[in-house]
Amino acid sequence: MESAANAIGSVPDVAARFKAALRGVASTVTVVTALDGERHHGMTATAFMSLSMEPPSLVVCINRSTLLHDILTSARRFCVNILDESQEPVSVAFSGGLHGDNRFAQGSWSRDQDGLAYLADAQANIFCSKAAAMPYGTHTLFIGEVTDVRFGESVSPLLYHNAAYCTSLPRSVHL
Ligand SMILES: Cc1cc2nc3c(=O)[nH]c(=O)nc-3n(C[C@H](O)[C@H](O)[C@H](O)COP(=O)(O)O)c2cc1C
Repeated sequence: MESAANAIGSVPDVAARFKAALRGVASTVTVVTALDGERHHGMTATAFMSLSMEPPSLVVCINRSTLLHDILTSARRFCVNILDESQEPVSVAFSGGLHGDNRFAQGSWSRDQDGLAYLADAQANIFCSKAAAMPYGTHTLFIGEVTDVRFGESVSPLLYHNAAYCTSLPRSVHL
């Protein structure tokens, strides 16, 4: 049985322990892009999940201190670009390695009919119209209703695990 000292919530540094637990979670790396009429921007985000199939929808959690948060607050649409394993440099650029428009020099970026940027050779691009936003703590949950999906050629996502980029490998091959 777990000792009382090790029980979740019984120690003062629960946030640090929560962070440590999250380090063990492998997450798919995305770059979320949006434009609000004048400004367009993108940033790396792993806090992404599917929400519902009726309607097809997803959630991204964005820190309120970021420029993308500011833009998403007034944007009507956004795109979740799911990176493939070759796109670590894109993730690095969009998580602070490069700033402003310079970020889009890393990777093959295109624009759709509205000017929304998408990574043309990403594993997938999920285009959304913003359906709702719910602030909580330091972040806001942006809910997107999926309006279109494009696929790249590979299905080999870039993952982030234990503070490092990695790839997924099948545990066993069934012939
Ligand atoms: C692997 C990885 C995943 C990240 N995931 C998120 C996330 O889900 N939400 C978030 O708000 N920031 C996340 N960040 C942090 C932002 O990408 C980073 O703060 C970025 O520089 C913010 O953009 P800005 O410089 O344009 O404000 C992540 C960073 C990395 C390296």
